[in-house]
Amino acid sequence: MLFRAKNIHKIFFRKSFFDFKNNGLSALSDINIDIYDGDIIGIVGETGSGKSTLGKIFVGLEKPSRGFLYYNNNNIFKLSKKDFRKFQKSTSFIFQDPYSSFNPKMRVLDILQEPLILNGVEKNKRKERIDEIINNVELKIEDLNKFPHQFSGGQRQRIAIARALILNPKFLVADEPISSLDLSIRAQILKLLKEIYEKSNLTMMIISHDLSIVEYLCNRVVVLYKGFMMEEAFTKDLFNNPLHPYTKLLIESSPTLYSEKTKATELETPESTVDFKDTQIRFCPFLEKCKQKIDKCKESFPEIIEVEKEHKVRCFRYI
Ligand SMILES: Nc1ncnc2c1ncn2[C@@H]1O[C@H](COP(=O)(O)OP(=O)(O)O)[C@@H](O)[C@H]1O
Ligand code: SF4
Ligand SMILES: [Mg+2]
Repeated sequence: MLFRAKNIHKIFFRKSFFDFKNNGLSALSDINIDIYDGDIIGIVGETGSGKSTLGKIFVGLEKPSRGFLYYNNNNIFKLSKKDFRKFQKSTSFIFQDPYSSFNPKMRVLDILQEPLILNGVEKNKRKERIDEIINNVELKIEDLNKFPHQFSGGQRQRIAIARALILNPKFLVADEPISSLDLSIRAQILKLLKEIYEKSNLTMMIISHDLSIVEYLCNRVVVLYKGFMMEEAFTKDLFNNPLHPYTKLLIESSPTLYSEKTKATELETPESTVDFKDTQIRFCPFLEKCKQKIDKCKESFPEIIEVEKEHKVRCFRYI
């Protein structure tokens, strides 16, 4: 097992001067996920469900408020500084909007070279690695001398992928990897991610509000709602036999890779997390929107349980 997340909670405290009560916002609650070598795990859910926060925790960019994250059986937040840096080197994160994470004054060569220099890679080895990665993401050697603004969105995403992979990480998180791209090139970038995965020893986490991406790329899926895991299953089981009413709703409203207007975005709600003071909630988090609720759903909080082999769900209809 590569990762084990155990009882992870993440609470963000609002830093507003006027917020005297300092109410927290619970972005993630009781997350338990195992990731095995070679997995491509999909994290789905609407905006605000905690997907990006979860991805960041898995690469050490955010610290959980409670709970543990083990990487190769080591608690990553208990590592020495040196070992934590080593861990971070073996992981990588592609941000939702890669363009804003590029320094516009840096040429592609410098963007790719910088992490190699910082990690003490010799000059000739650097050139070898850059040539190899440029080839892997299907850019041209002459592109190395250009600046990010000289590329199309799809090519910029290729640069972001190249930079994320330049140090040969073992684990890659891609946060909404195609949502900022034109429809015509979304499929190309997905195909590229798949090819890169097949050629390397990567384990990946794909974050998306769009189920079709996850169906195409992932072997396992976790459905998040208001920071809670609602369902977890192998991809084929989730799509052939969705159990949770929220998953069913997501699948019904899932766009295809090629559709412009997505019903999934219509489902987004701006305030979809729960207030920290409400985390001891005594009812199902999906109660308000659920069309299948029963009396019990407003009286107690459902635990997530395995109802079929490797298929877990948080819903009283299965308890
Ligand atoms: N750094 C932060 N400070 C305060 N609140 C945050 C921060 N990052 C995320 N949040 C809040 O946590 C919740 C989950 O956010 P996020 O993980 O970005 O969800 P998603 O990626 O599913 O849209 C949201 O309500 C968001 O506003
Ligand atoms: S526990 Fe009840 S309210 Fe929640 S999803 Fe299941 S049926 Fe709906
Ligand atoms: Mg996000």
